Amino acid sequence: MQSSITPTVRYSTAARWFHWLAFTAVALAYLFINLRGVFARGSAASKVPMQGHILFGLVVLVLVLPRLLHRLRNTPPPVVPPLAPWEALLSGLTHWALYAFLLVQPLLGLFTVWAGGALKVPFTALQIPSPLTADRALHEQLGSLHTTIGTVFYYVIGLHIAGALWHHFFRRDNTLRRML
Ligand code: HEM
Ligand code: HEM
Repeated sequence: MQSSITPTVRYSTAARWFHWLAFTAVALAYLFINLRGVFARGSAASKVPMQGHILFGLVVLVLVLPRLLHRLRNTPPPVVPPLAPWEALLSGLTHWALYAFLLVQPLLGLFTVWAGGALKVPFTALQIPSPLTADRALHEQLGSLHTTIGTVFYYVIGLHIAGALWHHFFRRDNTLRRML
């Protein structure tokens, strides 16, 4: 039996790195897109928000596949004391929704750009040609879906963070310590 003096079994080192790197990249992608419009149009700085957004969004995309592979091969350590079935269900649903978001949201962003033309690799002169034929209507549809999902996930991420803090400060279990 695990007591308060037994160190908690944490997620693997790789899982913890994946989690906190992805968190940082998502937070920076949100931060940069919210800076859009802050700098004067046509100024050198005016391109930074979208380029920063795309850069950190692509970092999320690069991290997600190895992370999912690692997750499928490694079972998370147990929560002590164990969760009630409804708690396990809610956290399981939230986690898989977050994984889906980490995969789908940057892909939607990428295809939004590609529906308008080549992807300019942020802060470089490189371009990745689009596999799509340029299509203004598709560009706008994908962009608005990407924006909607981005808005909905402010709340899902908020719920996830509130859950983590609730476990730590009110339920007083090892959920958060497993991820630190
Ligand atoms: C997890 C990663 C990402 C998140 C959380 C995210 C989130 C968002 C949000 C919330 C907006 C809407 C901002 C607003 O107008 O209020 C947005 C816009 C946009 N994002 Fe992303 N994004 C991500 C990744 C990407 C990637 C990888 C690309 C491109 C390669 C991209 C390209 C765009 C573009 C072009 C827009 C403007 C869409 C439009 O105004 O129609 N995003 N993103
Ligand atoms: C962009 C923001 C975030 C995303 C996308 C995200 C994503 C995820 C995902 C997908 C998992 C599931 C891990 C698994 O079992 O496979 C997870 C677990 C976890 N996250 Fe986050 N996370 C974010 C932010 C945060 C923050 C800010 C905190 C702390 C306040 C946090 C605390 C935790 C904890 C404690 C777990 C383990 C939960 C458990 O195993 O029951 N996360 N996160």
